[in-house]
Amino acid sequence: MCGIVGYVGEKQAAPVLLDGLEKLEYRGYDSAGLAVLDGKNNINIARAKGKLCELFKKTDGGKALEGVCGIGHTRWATHGEPSENNAHPHFNDDKTIAAVHNGIIENYAELKGKLSRQGYEFYSETDTEVATKLVDYYYKKHGDPVRAIANFVLRVRGSYALAVLFKDYPDQIFAVRKDSPMIIGVAGGEAFIASDVPAILKYTKSVYYVANTEIAHVEKGKVTFYNLDKEVVEKDLTEITWNAQSAEKDGYEHFMLKEMHEQPRVVKDTVNGLIKDGKIDFSDFGLSDKDIAKVKHITVVACGSAYHAGVAAQYVLEELARIPVRVELSSEFRYRNPVADKNCLVIVISQSGETADSLAALREAKKLKMKTLAIVNVLGSSIAREADGVLYTKAGPEIAVATTKAYSSQLIAGYALALKFATVRNTITQERYKELLSELSTLPEKIECILKQKESIQHFASEAANKKNVFFIGRGVDYAVCIEGSLKLKEISYVHSEAYAAGELKHGPISLIEDGTLVIGVLMQENLIEKTLSNLVETKSRGAYIAAVTCGDDKKVENVADVKITVPYTDGLFAASLAVIPLQLFAYYLSVLKGNDVDKPRNLAKSVTVE
Ligand code: M6R
Repeated sequence: MCGIVGYVGEKQAAPVLLDGLEKLEYRGYDSAGLAVLDGKNNINIARAKGKLCELFKKTDGGKALEGVCGIGHTRWATHGEPSENNAHPHFNDDKTIAAVHNGIIENYAELKGKLSRQGYEFYSETDTEVATKLVDYYYKKHGDPVRAIANFVLRVRGSYALAVLFKDYPDQIFAVRKDSPMIIGVAGGEAFIASDVPAILKYTKSVYYVANTEIAHVEKGKVTFYNLDKEVVEKDLTEITWNAQSAEKDGYEHFMLKEMHEQPRVVKDTVNGLIKDGKIDFSDFGLSDKDIAKVKHITVVACGSAYHAGVAAQYVLEELARIPVRVELSSEFRYRNPVADKNCLVIVISQSGETADSLAALREAKKLKMKTLAIVNVLGSSIAREADGVLYTKAGPEIAVATTKAYSSQLIAGYALALKFATVRNTITQERYKELLSELSTLPEKIECILKQKESIQHFASEAANKKNVFFIGRGVDYAVCIEGSLKLKEISYVHSEAYAAGELKHGPISLIEDGTLVIGVLMQENLIEKTLSNLVETKSRGAYIAAVTCGDDKKVENVADVKITVPYTDGLFAASLAVIPLQLFAYYLSVLKGNDVDKPRNLAKSVTVE
């Protein structure tokens, strides 16, 4: 949901800003813009509708904007259509202040009315222009950027990461955030602002995580933080462990393809990070055995694919640890007035750690005094910082909008939780525990083996290229994989698809099956194969074209399926980790065949920081 960058240093700012925006384009890509202070007390702005390459062309790779201090923005429209006029940065009336913003100013209409009555005029439909003019109003009143921004914070409702240039303060940027991400990196005589780490990894790994409502005064190689009373706040730098290459395509055609291929390593790293002395160990994540023993129920809250990882975890946790688990969409949990339960552990799963609904759900759980655990990929993200405990998945930066490797690492975290809870609750034998632990360590190799057969999935995708509707069906953990496979297909290939628990199909959706409809059955649970197979046969009798993802050489599957995709065998509880790989590849190749922008699908943004 929009990406912001800022730079001040010795280099020309615009090329550095464009480079950073390129790494953030996954956050929004309907328009982009730059503002640079030119050293002669002018703020020059360039904006362009469309992808970042348009701004790149317009500014000749940044050469058209001279100066060593600037801010930039890539937009995912909230207020006002994607257009040059609505693109950021926005100016105040006399072009002495320019700002970029990520988030939503909820009371912007009321503020716009008040500012209009003060004589302000508005040229765009955006809340960001209102924000810029509000800062201008307070700056003219107090003559001090920090005080102006502090007043802005007190006046606005909503979420924002705001970076502001003042003509009166050359080579300086002022910034603030609330519930939208912002980091500030420093290196020698340079300083960088960004919505996310990949934008600055190439330049520095030393970053400050800006807390809510802290105001940053960014100068060459130096940052001073203030609270709303303009008192200096001392902060520590954090060292990022990700390497710069992990934010590059590395020879792959798309980030998604690269990230799918990183899954064996990511799964291995996540497993290794959870095992100490041959056992699953959660003591470093703020969840001791004593804490676990007190938990009587678990509620998982998440959105999108993270929610799907939660659904898979629910099956595994209930099976192994015999503990009731409920999985809820964060956007529902936050408004449904959940019942406070001190014996309930609320687990928030999020790749970015910034998803607005998941952050709000976490806060709701904390308000109700429930213990919280975050399963998060991005170090220092808001959810990671606010939860009582945090388990970091080891996926590294994920750039493609459609998640693959982060989802895979979330699955591992769910399995590990189930095994841990099962030991503490004494619901697993030593033998089964060891068996599953050893199976866990074989997953990377098995994923690798599926990836090596990617051409066969590519061929299947080419056969399915004209399908208008696709159904995914499965039972238990296989159903959890189906909902993820269906989402992948929708988001990047724009093919309509539905996922159903196999037994549910005949309660309505089967009426949609007609000649040639593609039905993909996931058949990884030995005890449920026959049941799902019967449901596939029901659709085949109505003309469906059947594909089956399975791990056995069951002749019964071959007799029913038109296409059989075989993955290595694993315990049914871990089936999602293998069955999801061909489904990711299928969505990917279909998207490529259709000529879609795989990494930046239409209408989407990677990190959904607005409701
Ligand atoms: O960063 P989060 O894991 O909280 O994001 C949640 C969803 O927005 C995300 O999983 C989304 O559904 C992906 N685009 C799916 O590929």
